[in-house]
Amino acid sequence: MRKPIMAGNWKMNKTVEEAILLVSELGMLADEVTDTEVVVCPPFIALDAVIEAGAGSKISFGAQNMYWEEEGAFTGEVSPAMLQDMGCSYVIIGHSERREYFGETDESVSKKLRAALRFDLIPIVCVGEKLEDREKGTTEEVIRKQVETGLSGLDKEQAAGLVVAYEPVWAIGTGKTASDEDAQKVIQFIRQVLTGMYGKDAADRVRILYGGSVKPENISGLMQQPDIDGALVGGASLDAKVFASIVNFQK
Ligand code: PGA
Repeated sequence: MRKPIMAGNWKMNKTVEEAILLVSELGMLADEVTDTEVVVCPPFIALDAVIEAGAGSKISFGAQNMYWEEEGAFTGEVSPAMLQDMGCSYVIIGHSERREYFGETDESVSKKLRAALRFDLIPIVCVGEKLEDREKGTTEEVIRKQVETGLSGLDKEQAAGLVVAYEPVWAIGTGKTASDEDAQKVIQFIRQVLTGMYGKDAADRVRILYGGSVKPENISGLMQQPDIDGALVGGASLDAKVFASIVNFQK
């Protein structure tokens, strides 16, 4: 059984003070949750305060990015050792906005992924096709390359512990969601590619999330799909009540 995860990606939103308020409210609302893991990923500068304010709640914490080196002359970067030290359990790697605006590639994703695992951080690795890929009918080809290059070089146990987020780029922040069936189809394909790389046992344990305009109105349909194990939520995670109703989806 794969335990569902609902992860909130706050992106570049919230001051430290606002972030503390959000996590405090969410901590209370998520108090009853037992069968779903709740994760929030605030901006770096709010991480420490959010972890402190959310301590003792059911929430786990993640960062939105990291560099792959442990320390050194890398101005502006944050290392996996720092995230581990701060109390993070998760780290988002290769989000499409990082690929689009900050030059991340499947190769950098692979380096970050292996660095995260060395510091016991659980990577939430993002993959997804652009609108033009979908229109050209190359979705599977694009996803296969992202998975085979980005997620390569692990042992089976490491692979099994991964979280992958399938986020079609055209669905992020646009209000357009992939249909439940389309999301299931690609996610099942990701599991199939992982099976080819790491075997069925490991691939069956990987939790694969859907992301892209997830909201309370569409979460139940997505969660009814057999291969979808949760969601990576952007906009709708910025309001505690809205995110809590996603967390408490009714199957
Ligand atoms: P969205 O973002 O929910 O605002 O579409 C999802 C994401 O980018 O992780």
